[in-house]
Amino acid sequence: MKLLGKPSFKALTKPALKPPLKLSSKSSDEPSFRELRAVDNFYQTSLFFPMPAVLVSTLTDTGKTTCGPYSLLAPFYIAGKEYYAFMLECRNSSNTAQNLIKHKKCVINFLGDDRATFKEMVRLGWPGDTPEEKMKDFRFHLEEGLRKAEDPEGIYPQVISEALQAVECTWVDTLDGAQDDGPLPEGTDHYELEKYHDFNGITSPYGAHFVLRIDKILMKPRYRDAIVNGVRSQDFPPLPVDYGYRDSKNFWYHKHRRLLPELLPQRQTTVQSVRYAANRLQTDVQFTDAALEKLVKVPRIFLPTVLKGCVSWAEENGVKVIDVEQMEIINDKRSKEKNK
Ligand SMILES: Cc1cc2nc3c(=O)[nH]c(=O)nc-3n(C[C@H](O)[C@H](O)[C@H](O)COP(=O)(O)O)c2cc1C
Repeated sequence: MKLLGKPSFKALTKPALKPPLKLSSKSSDEPSFRELRAVDNFYQTSLFFPMPAVLVSTLTDTGKTTCGPYSLLAPFYIAGKEYYAFMLECRNSSNTAQNLIKHKKCVINFLGDDRATFKEMVRLGWPGDTPEEKMKDFRFHLEEGLRKAEDPEGIYPQVISEALQAVECTWVDTLDGAQDDGPLPEGTDHYELEKYHDFNGITSPYGAHFVLRIDKILMKPRYRDAIVNGVRSQDFPPLPVDYGYRDSKNFWYHKHRRLLPELLPQRQTTVQSVRYAANRLQTDVQFTDAALEKLVKVPRIFLPTVLKGCVSWAEENGVKVIDVEQMEIINDKRSKEKNK
């Protein structure tokens, strides 16, 4: 249907670039920002701060699974360590924190963004409710994860079946000397310690931080296949974004919207500058120009590492000159390692 007065065809001419977004009317010598004081819980009180919203499953003392909503979750060890890890920040008297201190394991469940799901998350966030009180009306289903499949005798928190992806984790209590942190004595709502940890375990009278080693990543087949085969805009799961800021009445969150692709910059250097980096390596291994041509798109900062990787491969395989053929073998090996 055509709305009156609106043209039904689009012009084929290239539209003019939009003028830059005008955020406020400001004369050029006036600062464009105003200060806002950082206070406790600054991410909720003094900022708009986009974060995930997840349900963390942990084990109660009777071996049952209980779930609490959390947003202060960030990738912590992402490469170069023996394991990958998240950081979770919790009120230390919460069921989640106490269960992690006692039983070490959890599952981070990423649920969809529909309103009924978020409502349930907010219900589960009421401080002070016992696991029994929360879980008797739990609106999702629970199932065993992959840890249990590998170790049928072990007891692991269950995974929420409705989650789009979930991560099974173990608290690394040995970091920052947190292995001796004990549970809260009955009837107390915070810790009074002589010394608090810096980043793992009980970190303040009311706070706790948990470095969570990633044991297993579980994903619904549709999203797993997308990551393995190539992700398109429509393949991103509809995950909610918690905007940090909250007031005494509401938690605020954002529903998923179609993701927009932004092309990576396609900068490339010249064979000469790759040759310059190659010549600085302490090695007898030679590169042909055609081989170095394959590296012109590698950002300069990574060139020494990439070139050293090629040299190590050549030395291991008794190769004296790296040409295109060898480069392809190295690339192939690298992408196989990545896929693993
Ligand atoms: C969306 C959402 C995000 C939350 N994020 C956090 C958080 O990152 N850290 C925290 O200590 N409390 C957070 N809370 C509050 C906890 O959920 C609340 O303390 C709750 O009692 C914890 O449940 P549990 O005792 O079963 O662990 C959040 C609540 C909601 C609704």
